[in-house]
Amino acid sequence: MNTIITRTRLVLISVLSILLSGCTEEKSIKAAVVSARKEASKIGVEIMKKGGSAFDAMIATDLALTVCYPNAGNISGGGFLIYRTADGKTGSLDYREKAPIAASRDMYLDKNGNIVPDKSTLGGLAIGVPGTVAGLEAIHKKFGTLPWKDLIQPAINLALNGYIVTEKQELSFAEKKQDFIKINGQNTFYAQNFRENDTVKNLALANTLKLIAKHGKAGFYEGTIANDLVERVQETGGIITHQDLLSYEPVWRDPINFQYKDLNIYSMAPPSSGGICLGQILKMIEPYNVGHYKHNSMEAIQIIVEAERRSYADRSLYLGDPDFVKIPQNELLQEKYLNDRMKSFTFERASKSTEILPGTISWEESEETTHYSIIDPMGNAIAVTTTLNGSYGSKVYVEKGGYFLNNEMDDFSSKPGFPNMFGLVGGKANAISPQKRMLSAMTPTIIEKNNKLYMIVGTPGGSTIITSVLQTILNVYEYDMDIQTAVAAPRFHHQWLPDIITFEPNKFKRNLFDSLQKKGYDIKEEYNRIIGRVDAIKVSDKGIISTGADPRGDDEALLLY
Ligand code: DON
Repeated sequence: MNTIITRTRLVLISVLSILLSGCTEEKSIKAAVVSARKEASKIGVEIMKKGGSAFDAMIATDLALTVCYPNAGNISGGGFLIYRTADGKTGSLDYREKAPIAASRDMYLDKNGNIVPDKSTLGGLAIGVPGTVAGLEAIHKKFGTLPWKDLIQPAINLALNGYIVTEKQELSFAEKKQDFIKINGQNTFYAQNFRENDTVKNLALANTLKLIAKHGKAGFYEGTIANDLVERVQETGGIITHQDLLSYEPVWRDPINFQYKDLNIYSMAPPSSGGICLGQILKMIEPYNVGHYKHNSMEAIQIIVEAERRSYADRSLYLGDPDFVKIPQNELLQEKYLNDRMKSFTFERASKSTEILPGTISWEESEETTHYSIIDPMGNAIAVTTTLNGSYGSKVYVEKGGYFLNNEMDDFSSKPGFPNMFGLVGGKANAISPQKRMLSAMTPTIIEKNNKLYMIVGTPGGSTIITSVLQTILNVYEYDMDIQTAVAAPRFHHQWLPDIITFEPNKFKRNLFDSLQKKGYDIKEEYNRIIGRVDAIKVSDKGIISTGADPRGDDEALLLY
């Protein structure tokens, strides 16, 4: 009975919030933050109310997520920022985790060369050297306008006063409780059975944040926090040392930039595959005018899936950390190469992934993430995707510091051709090496139209990140959906291997599946918690801001009028 009431209430709330979000398209909106949690969006907006920029709001929002969204928000993971300043300058920061200095190619294999289950996902050995705090400090140094400590104080207050557990969060804590206990013992903080509407105060995290507020990056990578972190990593079988922490540096990189029709798109460069794969897929789709086919019709799905298949095949061979492997970036995005890749596509039957190998390029050899989008009153735009990788990362909790550590090492290819936790395969380009960054799929993206800001978009979702961002862009641009409808619209996903299209359940028609199966496509219709939670902002030709917060999560857009 209670469950039914709760569900009905939830549906009503969802419908209401969609209606309300639909009403966000008003001229008077000056700024917006769309993130995975209302508290974090609110803190970001408050910073802009005080005169802060999108960059300032980013830092405050990020740290608020660390407090109230501990499955993905983090000071102990990594991420990517794409930005576009009000005067049209674009750039990106890579603060992705790195393999520890003591890491080695076969560290997750047994003596027979087989992958040891859980070794790259659970416990100390799964942890990559965190990049978040160094990333936030670098952003503040380059773009911050308000004092560093003022940007951290709201997160400290949130940790001291507590955040309210949502229904989805209660389920998420319960689901992972046994893992928390397995790694951290019965008395670990997050094994306390927090229920919906409980207030969670995290005093240990408040203290950690105070040290970061006082000492900046050094507050995290040196001193007490660093000591506690290294101790905890080593207690749980990991290999991160003080030297790893001291040598971590984020990297400013040129974003991947490409055109799709009259859109000018900026997205993340390697070590994320996001920008290159998004570019490849859109460029492969472009000649087919997908918008001429009905939204989610069989033909539209075929075009998109076949482009996705070919791009994910390339990803497996060519992409990795550009500081370690040479990536044929321009070649992979060349129109002729991509048109040739699609030559084997026919509407008559499905291509088979066994027949679609990574393309031949001749070139000179030399369950949890979170995304937020911000626009400020000046017109600066921010797209950030940040992660611990799996939900609550490695599940290793630094009790003294109040936070979980990532399990990003699983994003490496532990063994050529063998899938990671997202089913993604890779090879030499993404093999483990000391201090190398693991390949990501995170796709924070900023789009211009007619030289003006048009869209800010991104999502969590592991391997589905790229295809969820892609569908959101197509929904707005090709299918004329408002941004909230585009974000909420049913999604599907294909990633070359396994050779299957995953559809969100109960959102597509049976006869569509029958028709696709007749063409030779394998279909899986199931609830997939990682099909993305897209948070996006759109700016119309007339400069009107509208927002899309994914109803699949607790995501919320907050606005500044
Ligand atoms: O960097 C990546 O691609 C992954 N570590 C992202 C993980 C993720 O999105 C999990 N979230 N649902």
